[in-house]
Amino acid sequence: MTKTAFRLDTSRTAHTLRALADQHRHTSLRELFAADARRHERFSCRHDQLLLDYSKQRIDTQVFAQLLALAEEAKLAEGIRALFAGAPLNNTEGRAVLHTAARLSPLTPAAARAEISATTERLQALVRSIHAGERLGSTGRPIRHVVHVGIGGSDLGPRLLQEAFAASLPLKLRVSYAANIDESELRAILADSTPAETLFVLASKSFSTAETLSNARLAQAWLAQSLGGDMPLGAHFVAISNNVAAAQAFGLSADNVFPMPEWVGGRFSVWSAIGLPLMLAFGCEVFEQFQAGGRAMDAHFAQTPLEHNLPVLLGLLGLWNTSFLDIGTQAILPYSHPLRSLPAYLQQLEMESNGKSVDRDGQALSWQTAPILFGGAGTVGQHAYHQLFYQGTRSVTLDFIVPVPAQASSAMQGLIGNALAQAAALMQGRTLDEARAELKAKGLNADEVERLAPHLVCPGNQPSNTLLMPEVSPYTAGQLLALYEHKVFVQGWLWGINSFDQYGVELGKNMARSLENDANTPSDSSTAALLAEVRQRWA
Ligand code: F6P
Repeated sequence: MTKTAFRLDTSRTAHTLRALADQHRHTSLRELFAADARRHERFSCRHDQLLLDYSKQRIDTQVFAQLLALAEEAKLAEGIRALFAGAPLNNTEGRAVLHTAARLSPLTPAAARAEISATTERLQALVRSIHAGERLGSTGRPIRHVVHVGIGGSDLGPRLLQEAFAASLPLKLRVSYAANIDESELRAILADSTPAETLFVLASKSFSTAETLSNARLAQAWLAQSLGGDMPLGAHFVAISNNVAAAQAFGLSADNVFPMPEWVGGRFSVWSAIGLPLMLAFGCEVFEQFQAGGRAMDAHFAQTPLEHNLPVLLGLLGLWNTSFLDIGTQAILPYSHPLRSLPAYLQQLEMESNGKSVDRDGQALSWQTAPILFGGAGTVGQHAYHQLFYQGTRSVTLDFIVPVPAQASSAMQGLIGNALAQAAALMQGRTLDEARAELKAKGLNADEVERLAPHLVCPGNQPSNTLLMPEVSPYTAGQLLALYEHKVFVQGWLWGINSFDQYGVELGKNMARSLENDANTPSDSSTAALLAEVRQRWA
């Protein structure tokens, strides 16, 4: 078998980077800034209205040059070309990776775009007919509420964008989201819904996901209860799936099923028919602007030299932190209420894509891959988990994502000021002498100063990126999501892994199916005892 994976353990440049990492593990960012007045200028990159400042990373010009050399050695530019050309980069499943075609990037094969456009035309006709009150429920009532039923990649993207746009765009139709097999989520939505006016969108690439099918059956039963068991399913359900046959077997007619191609991975699918709830909520033009933002980022990624290429920079810096400096945690901190669900979205994108431990050829890796990603909206997180960033024992890398509106109220100025202050304070920290000086200035006596000062010390030196972007809009949200998608690609390429399968997830799904069967007994005593206890409580 021909080996195709780039390997960090045999790479010359990675060897150099490991030596540099030994020097830089404890490099003081304060000192780097003090020594170089042009550090921001040197380590920042502008594209369109985006400004990425990565000067608070533990790098110098030598590390930066070697990271770029690593990308050259790994032939990243060839990888990018192969991605857009539709090469079967998902080698375990023998599939192309063409979410860029789902947003109609002109760099992708025309046949793939044509497939997307054909579905888009049908989706637009559906959206128009619902907005015009022409598509009616089974009793002749107009559709006034859409419930999107899906999970993972079939849910997180539309859910994030629904929140992101709700703050600034008029709503054409109410849309709710149900993902969890815990039926209390869907029941709470149904409690506030009118059956005759509700349309369910069943979104599942495989159309075999337990959570989605369970919620679909609950929705069906709820409709049947009030509208009668013989009501036509088609009036209240549409489906988006790659498994059209399974959707039809569930009872949907062909004209109510919208295909998504197998070459659009679930966690990359928000650009495809999976975006239907957004079209329904805000209109097709809004969705087109979102796709246009993604396409603009595609062009930047495909055509910009590596050192000025935002996804490449994010990818290389993440690799440096994770695989060379051994920082295993990444916080995503959008200073924006509309983007509050971005961490959840990126969690799937990054952790499901790059949470791998063998290379593309099935050989074990000897380096760390995707970090544990978490986060939340600023400033809320400042009053919860930032304490650990300041005084905990771990290094964390932080991405501050800061939309800057053209005009800002004093509250918005406060929000943005907080983002910048957090990045600065976490980089600078507070020394023992500074702590003493602060306490003295407050009038504490010498004993009190000595007693308290150690508790005020903050080591600082937490590496961060700050991304300034314009106000959240469909276009800028498209740029942002495509930026992180391509970052994931860059990292997967350099780690030598297949970022586009997710076999691990199957293990837990199979185990759950097996436990549902009363005849099966778990092989370990812990699970067996817990299951026995649960069954006893249900008896
Ligand atoms: O559980 C993992 C996963 O397969 C994700 O990759 C996917 O986005 C999600 O489940 C939902 O899958 P589907 O769209 O097939 O229902």
